[in-house]
Amino acid sequence: MLVTGNDILIPARAGQYGVGSFNTNNMEITQAIIHTAERLRSPVMVQMSEGAIKYGGQDLANIVIDLARRATVPVALHLDHGSSYESALKAIKMGFTSVMIDASHHGFEDNVKETRRVVEAAHAMGISVESELGRLGGIEEHIVVDEKDAFLTDPEEAVQFIEQTGTDYLAIAIGTSHGAFKGKGRPYIDHARIEKIASLTSIPLVAHGSSGVPQEIVERFRAAGGQIGDAAGIADEDLQRATGFGIAKVNVDTDLRLASTVGIREALTANPKEFDPRKIFGPAREVMSQVIEHKMRVLGSVGKA
Ligand code: G3H
Ligand code: 13P
Ligand code: NA
Ligand code: ZN
Repeated sequence: MLVTGNDILIPARAGQYGVGSFNTNNMEITQAIIHTAERLRSPVMVQMSEGAIKYGGQDLANIVIDLARRATVPVALHLDHGSSYESALKAIKMGFTSVMIDASHHGFEDNVKETRRVVEAAHAMGISVESELGRLGGIEEHIVVDEKDAFLTDPEEAVQFIEQTGTDYLAIAIGTSHGAFKGKGRPYIDHARIEKIASLTSIPLVAHGSSGVPQEIVERFRAAGGQIGDAAGIADEDLQRATGFGIAKVNVDTDLRLASTVGIREALTANPKEFDPRKIFGPAREVMSQVIEHKMRVLGSVGKA
């Protein structure tokens, strides 16, 4: 069933588990996400960025909405990193049931103002809203506290922000960053900060940049002719711990990008004479499903629907 973000995330925060919010850009990614969720009885969020809307438009949104309506588990369609009020409203008109307004690059007051506008409009239509406070970006373990505080989310500010905006869930900067290169070895994640923010708030918290970049997938990518440097993601144990503290929405894009390319590369390398798209995109869908299953098990959402 197609539901709002709140329908999925409020129980997740209360139950101390995480729900994957996976980026989609085509039918195969969407099927992998929603069919895996059904197989594992897990709630799930499917998100489209503004780039995904540019690429797939209403056609892609309709694929997600149709699969979600027919799904036997709760599914929300979410706008990832909406850059303006207009963008959020456009997504709502397209049928999204959850939107993010990302005004985190503005100062506190302007972030509050822009977020509040979106919250007022979205709530009038029964749609829930994610906003962001703090700046995403990889940081090193040894960096001094003062420097960390400059861009990681300040707990007291988070309380003020939630009060002043009425946001339904809040993305916090805790050391993660987007992409396949989150730092060497085990990328830093500020557990103490999550715990502190969670202790002062009750709404679901969101972690962006949560791909694990599994080494097995990276090695298969290389073995099938792909080129990639020192790739690293968030360790499974770190993510699991974060969900125990109050991280309820866990954004994953990079892992599915890698998995789909591994499936395509392996199919093409193994069968140079193949040109049936189903024999190429089918394996991509299968590898993505495996990666999604792993993530849902780590987050603890399996069996919650
Ligand atoms: O946070 C960004 C997501 O990975 C979406 O990326 O804007 O290239 O679709 P995109
Ligand atoms: P990853 O790059 O770690 O997959 O993060 C995706 C994300 O945060 C989308 O909003
Ligand atoms: Na998002
Ligand atoms: Zn993000």
